[in-house]
Amino acid sequence: MLSDSSLPIIKATLPVVGENIQEIASRFYEHMFAGRPELLDGLFNRGNQADGKQQQALAGSIAAFATALVERPDRLPENLLDRVAHKHVSLGLRPNQYAIVHENLMWAIGDTLGAAVTPEVAAAWDEVYWIMANMLINKERGLYSALDLNPDEIWRTWEVAARIEETPDVVSFTVRRTDPRPTKPSLPGQYVSLKMLMNDGVHQLRQYSLTKADDGDHRQFAVKRVAGLDGNPDGEMSKLLHSSLKVGDRVQLSAPFGDVVLKYSNRPVVFASAGIGITPMAGMLSHMAKAGVDRKVHLLHADADPGSFALRSQVEESLAELPDGKLDAWFVTPGLEPAQNEHAGFMNLEDTEVAEDAEYYLCGPLPFMQHVRSALIARGIPAKDIQYEVFGPDLWLADFQ
Ligand code: HEM
Repeated sequence: MLSDSSLPIIKATLPVVGENIQEIASRFYEHMFAGRPELLDGLFNRGNQADGKQQQALAGSIAAFATALVERPDRLPENLLDRVAHKHVSLGLRPNQYAIVHENLMWAIGDTLGAAVTPEVAAAWDEVYWIMANMLINKERGLYSALDLNPDEIWRTWEVAARIEETPDVVSFTVRRTDPRPTKPSLPGQYVSLKMLMNDGVHQLRQYSLTKADDGDHRQFAVKRVAGLDGNPDGEMSKLLHSSLKVGDRVQLSAPFGDVVLKYSNRPVVFASAGIGITPMAGMLSHMAKAGVDRKVHLLHADADPGSFALRSQVEESLAELPDGKLDAWFVTPGLEPAQNEHAGFMNLEDTEVAEDAEYYLCGPLPFMQHVRSALIARGIPAKDIQYEVFGPDLWLADFQ
């Protein structure tokens, strides 16, 4: 872990670095993209750059990691490292790219904090960076080798076989493989990256949860149209897919990755999702139905109204195939004749009976998950039994304060 010489320096400088971390991160990205503009073509998501989310996630993760090194080096934030490593390999990141980030990050620390960054301070932060980077590089090597792939081999061409308009905002795409190589198996809950050429000639990547279990030839994912302002890169991918991706078109998808996967167990399972957060749940349910597992499964889903509940018939079919599967849904605007399992308003866990000793999986907007997780913790559910998937850079994990 941190050397004896660096430990007191990191302890002493963590507050000032923490206070300035946003500024450091934003100067870091600006400097890096000025020197290496090719990183914006086919690697970084310019929507997340434009709204500052990626800066916040990277900065927060480094600050969280440095805090852990200082305060509890025996318990480094494995879940944070796992999440980042899975995201990185889904983009085909290579170990030698860590030197680029290193050089630009150290420059940004010096540029932001000025004379406070003595050679000793720089050396101590250099050590933090490489401890974290080496842990990520090792995890990433393990993930690539588990699928017997090197970073250049994660991409493969698929052809759109079906397009289903699920709701006014959500489209499902089924894609078929275009070559005879066997497809890499996905674990329940994983995602793939999709690489597309934007109208201005720049490649962009996004991650989409797989909504069905593998069948060897096909994959299925769903895309919600993100309401970005015109001219703003946020939402550009979903708009392009909604407006122009059609049956017969070819797309590049990565092999499946993602750390939030259904654990192998016999315990009851509760899924709590909101909006497009249904997608990883649909994938997990499909895997369970296909495997014929004998577990109690309860899906709790919240949405604006019954017409916005994407993949509803698919998840209901999966639940019906399971020996003990049920659904409760909450709609802000309920239908005219709500069924017995449809409730008005926001998801209310207090009045909902769930199985004892269940494992929980959450997915939806961050405030929804924070609310549900707090309610579960207040009920006495152990934190180890609650997993959650964040779409976009995870600002919850990165919230080191
Ligand atoms: C994503 C941290 C190195 C490229 C992320 C995220 C974090 C992070 C926290 C967001 C994960 C999420 O919640 O979705 C780090 C740290 C690094 C490092 C701490 C070094 C120690 C690198 C390197 C590259 C890179 C070397 C490539 C040059 C990316 C990209 C994304 C990402 C392209 C996705 C960005 C997006 O979708 O907006 N990284 N990273 N990272 N990282 Fe890294």
